Amino acid sequence: MKQALTALAALAATALGACTQQRQPGTDVEQRIDSLMAQMTIEEKVALCHAQSKFTSPGVPRLGVPELHYSDGPHGVRAEINWDDWGYAGWSNDSCTAFPALTALASTFNPELSFAYGDALGEESLYRGKDVILGPGVNIYRTPLNGRNFEYMGEDPYLASVMVVPYVKGVQRHGVATSVKHFALNNQELWRGHINVEVSDRALREIYLPAFRAAVVEGGAWTVMGAYNKLRGQHCCHNELLINKILKGEWAFDGAVITDWGGAHDTREAALNGLDIEMGSWTNGLTSSMALAYDNYYLARPYLDALRKGELPMSTLDDKVRRILRLMFRTSMSRRTHGIMGGARHSATARAVANEGIVLLKNSGGFFPLDTTTQMTIAVIGQNATRCMTLSGGSSELKARYEVSPLDGIRAQFPQARVVYSMGYAGGPSAYGREIPSPLDADSLLQAAVETARTADVVIFVGGLNKSHLQDCEAGDRVSLGLPFGQDRLIGELKAANPRLGVVLVSGNAVAMPWVDSVDGIVQAWYLGSEAGHAIADVLSGRVNPSGKLPISFPVALTDVGAHSFGPIAYPGDSINEKYLEDILVGYRWHDTRNIRPLFAFGHGLSYTTFALTDISLQSAQCTAAQTIRLTARLTNTGSRSGAEVVQVYVGKPDSKVTRAAKELKAFGKYRLDAGQSATVSIELPAERLAYFDEGSQQWTVEPGAYDIMVGTASDNIADTLRVDIR
Ligand code: GLC
Repeated sequence: MKQALTALAALAATALGACTQQRQPGTDVEQRIDSLMAQMTIEEKVALCHAQSKFTSPGVPRLGVPELHYSDGPHGVRAEINWDDWGYAGWSNDSCTAFPALTALASTFNPELSFAYGDALGEESLYRGKDVILGPGVNIYRTPLNGRNFEYMGEDPYLASVMVVPYVKGVQRHGVATSVKHFALNNQELWRGHINVEVSDRALREIYLPAFRAAVVEGGAWTVMGAYNKLRGQHCCHNELLINKILKGEWAFDGAVITDWGGAHDTREAALNGLDIEMGSWTNGLTSSMALAYDNYYLARPYLDALRKGELPMSTLDDKVRRILRLMFRTSMSRRTHGIMGGARHSATARAVANEGIVLLKNSGGFFPLDTTTQMTIAVIGQNATRCMTLSGGSSELKARYEVSPLDGIRAQFPQARVVYSMGYAGGPSAYGREIPSPLDADSLLQAAVETARTADVVIFVGGLNKSHLQDCEAGDRVSLGLPFGQDRLIGELKAANPRLGVVLVSGNAVAMPWVDSVDGIVQAWYLGSEAGHAIADVLSGRVNPSGKLPISFPVALTDVGAHSFGPIAYPGDSINEKYLEDILVGYRWHDTRNIRPLFAFGHGLSYTTFALTDISLQSAQCTAAQTIRLTARLTNTGSRSGAEVVQVYVGKPDSKVTRAAKELKAFGKYRLDAGQSATVSIELPAERLAYFDEGSQQWTVEPGAYDIMVGTASDNIADTLRVDIR
């Protein structure tokens, strides 16, 4: 395991550097594109701009240009879908390694692991013959109710920006394109197909776009997927501001913009506002298709007719075709290996991400880790201890080659123990788009679980959400912050029956915890994929010392959340329009600025050892906006075992002339130290990162004056605050 990880880190270090220049279109590619375009008919050009099946778009058969094959999703390569409908093809050779959900990846605060993740996903995508993998998702976590938060990288734009870049590079180094999604403002599932988001320029630029910009400008993403919703009255898949002005203008994106499946709605807008490939139309979202309707697509015959009549400029077509051919030269027409499917290295990557993504939320009295040598009885309670979590959840679901359940992982990790199980509650069958309650008798399940717990030496409750409809699943939002299926009551009854109770939550979202004061050990375990059970047991047993940090805030109640503080127009909207009235104050930005104490804070995560962060100092107390703030600190592992800590640097400007969050994450570093070891950590913070987006000038602006530089190991655990003056 350790050797595999060392190899991973080495791979990450070398390849991160090497791959930037790989596959950039040289002049030879551009010349070859010119040559192909000169030979193509207008019909062949238009054909490139829209789907020919559910998950392919055409090549140019006459000229030997292959078609493009697309596949979900961000956490692994999805099972094969039928040519012309949403059904699964039923192949027997299309299972994959299920990697942890991207929220778990973000929780690692480890960019090297993100590269290893992308690298493995790129190899498996290639092995499955895919040219475009439809991920990563980087929509910001604005509300804990969003059904797809588990697919994204949390509430902070800087964390998401840092973590998305290596993933993109890791995938694309194999000649497989990523498709960064959903661009943009797709922060909920309710009414996602049409809701019109109204948001300020500052919030758009400072909160919702940075991770997309990083993926494109630093990561070199080859495609971007437009979102279903609207921004300021125009569908995102052909939005003048988002695509022409920002993405292709300011960010100089040279790749292709594809729709979300069914995201195109207008030929003229699609032609003029930068949409390059129309996928999934006539699917009324996700459930049906008009067989062979591809010629009716907005960028099919209607577009061809308008071009021929001179109603739309041919230049729009040529720009699309150039971008699509460039995508092909980077992927289907590039010299590539054949990829790799499965194997120990990919499993090691999945387990490493899961291990480092798990967050130890609470550990009173050293409840965890549990001793693996004693012959105790461990009662594992809760359906999430056995429930398959790689299936359902929507388009990100996977046919995993294997999936280790928490129960199986615990059994393997505690061979001396007698492990007994009781389901405790039933979450109903997985269902996409429909909530199907369980037919089982809840009281009987609860009583059986309580009796099982009563006689055990220790009880581990494994609950949370389960990726069925309204429970962390695409096409629907959660309806409350609370745990479903009577879990809160069950936890209370278990505690009464046996005070030695630990809770493991498997979810992609924050949940309310009315029992938080009575439970000593609480672990946030996310959706962890094929290696879930091993990784959870690694942490519960102490084989792995947890180092994950929350990429989201856990509010005490929904009313503590910015998006839920301005009435329904702010969330979920009035079914037509929605106004992001909390503006830039998303997540901990809201909590800290409004002095609302969260249940667990952004950046929080405990360890089985302890760390001290001391001697924090700035190289200089003054610098210009063009310079870099350099800080050092002494990090000491003051505990009894090795572990990793994330030093976080937040910035605030109390006297700013504009509204600012009390603190914003602007730098971080993760450091592994042995027991008793100390290290001087150095962190660089380019002063330009302190900029806000000035709506008047439409420019990023670094306001002169004093800034607070807050250094700590969580947003609510600041060791020291220093002051720097920007001249
Ligand atoms: C879905 C999702 C998108 C996915 C696509 C193809 O509607 O929104 O994330 O990649 O369609 O399944």
